Amino acid sequence: MSKPFEFSVARALWPHDEAALRAVRAAVFIDEQRVPIELEWDGRDHASLHVLARNADGAAIGTGRLLPDGKIGRMAVSREARGKGVGLAMLRELLAAARERGFTEVELSAQTHALGFYEKSGFIAVSGEYLDAGIPHRTMRLAIVARPAK
Ligand SMILES: CC(C)(COP(=O)(O)OP(=O)(O)OC[C@H]1O[C@@H](n2cnc3c(N)ncnc32)[C@H](O)[C@@H]1OP(=O)(O)O)[C@@H](O)C(=O)NCCC(=O)NCCS
Repeated sequence: MSKPFEFSVARALWPHDEAALRAVRAAVFIDEQRVPIELEWDGRDHASLHVLARNADGAAIGTGRLLPDGKIGRMAVSREARGKGVGLAMLRELLAAARERGFTEVELSAQTHALGFYEKSGFIAVSGEYLDAGIPHRTMRLAIVARPAK
């Protein structure tokens, strides 16, 4: 039997974890998906809450962020770590953070190929397809029950 893939997901802040967050996003969005550099680094990272996934060796393998307006974005898992539950674990952490902040709904702009990933967590597409950074996207929303931080 193959060993389960070990990883951790933690909340992160830009000033502390910038290098690790940048490394994953540069590899996935800029190198792999050819997103223009100036669109990727949009100046909204300082104000966001981030999540960072690391493998058992401590290497950064996943990122995501929650903007102050309740929008989730920059969901990226390193190619070799996909399909092992990392994206789902990061999304759950971002949803928990959104609940703690009192949001009753979260929104994201999903690359069309990833629609099924978000649908598994209950997100519903609320727009037609549009291009962002040359990549087809649809807006998705999820109603959440607000829960104050303990
Ligand atoms: C989309 C992405 C974040 C998903 O992360 P991941 O770690 O591979 O996903 P997980 O392993 O946690 O998958 C969770 C579930 O979603 C499903 N899933 C994952 N990617 C999917 C996809 N593209 N379409 C449909 N279902 C998908 C998995 O099969 C799994 O289902 P299961 O629980 O029934 O087994 C990852 O593929 C990625 O980084 N892609 C490149 C960057 C990108 O396109 N980001 C999205 C920007 S909107």
